[in-house]
Amino acid sequence: GNMPEDVDTDDCMTSYTHIYSPDLLKDQVAFITGGGSGIGLRVAEVLMRCLLIGPAPFLLQAAKKLTAATGRHCLPLATDVRQPQTISAAVDETLKELGRIDILINNAAGNFLCPASSLSFNAFKTVLEIDTMGTFNTSKVVYEKWFKDHGGAIVNISATLGYRGQALQVHAGSAKAANDAMTKHLAVEWGPSGVRVNALAPGPISGTEGFRRLGGNTAQAMGAFSSIPLQRAGNKTEMAHGVLFLASRASSYVTGHIMVADGGSWLTSAND
Ligand code: HXC
Repeated sequence: GNMPEDVDTDDCMTSYTHIYSPDLLKDQVAFITGGGSGIGLRVAEVLMRCLLIGPAPFLLQAAKKLTAATGRHCLPLATDVRQPQTISAAVDETLKELGRIDILINNAAGNFLCPASSLSFNAFKTVLEIDTMGTFNTSKVVYEKWFKDHGGAIVNISATLGYRGQALQVHAGSAKAANDAMTKHLAVEWGPSGVRVNALAPGPISGTEGFRRLGGNTAQAMGAFSSIPLQRAGNKTEMAHGVLFLASRASSYVTGHIMVADGGSWLTSAND
């Protein structure tokens, strides 16, 4: 009953009820990595519905859907967060086309289930490179090119995997734990420049690649989610609302915070 609208596919919502003032982000620009699908796409949609002029490095098709649904501008830019020069080019392009960046959402991530003993050295490194180095690379480029002189808000998408050392997740859990530390380090160093740095840690979120890869559908079918205090998976719009809070002036005095949005999942479930 209290869940906001969402659709399980990577389509935009057919209706949306604003939870904050529709002009909360008026005239602002957000740079969203991994915005082409899943949580990143819904974050882009909800932010754009807040009168955002929103660019992001993502697919043309996603950009078209977002513009059609929200009437806002969306600049799709192909980047690999592992390659700082591609981020640099995307940030330059964004500043040239849209003139500013107010919000950075570090959402791009890679994950799969694999026991540590079978995980190749390169597999561990690959996930660290996307999740951790990718977050640092993008944050640093956006800071140097814009936030240093204008301030801004960074929201990193984290995970609760490392809180309990979840099985089959040493790569992603280690990467996200590093990102949580990074969130605090950058909040301390960049606070004086007017930059807030926070993170949102989702639990199992329906309609995402993570949910599919980590066995969410099987868990749901087996009734495993009844052990979660809120007894259900979350949806992408709920994650977007958490991001909207951390990215907007609704949280103007919040920095260095990791906000868990998992229905209480990690408190009671070994496998979220
Ligand atoms: C074991 C695997 C593997 C798997 C890849 N590898 N998939 N090992 N199990 N399922 C190994 C490969 O064998 C290779 O090691 C190394 O990882 C790199 O693989 P590549 O395919 O070359 O890497 P790349 O093409 O860069 O792809 C990156 C990726 C891929 C992470 C492996 O899955 C990807 O692009 N994912 C993006 C989408 C995604 O993962 N979304 C879900 C995010 S969920 P070797 O030794 O053979 O060279 C999420 C949230 C977590 O992050 C928290 C949820 C609660």
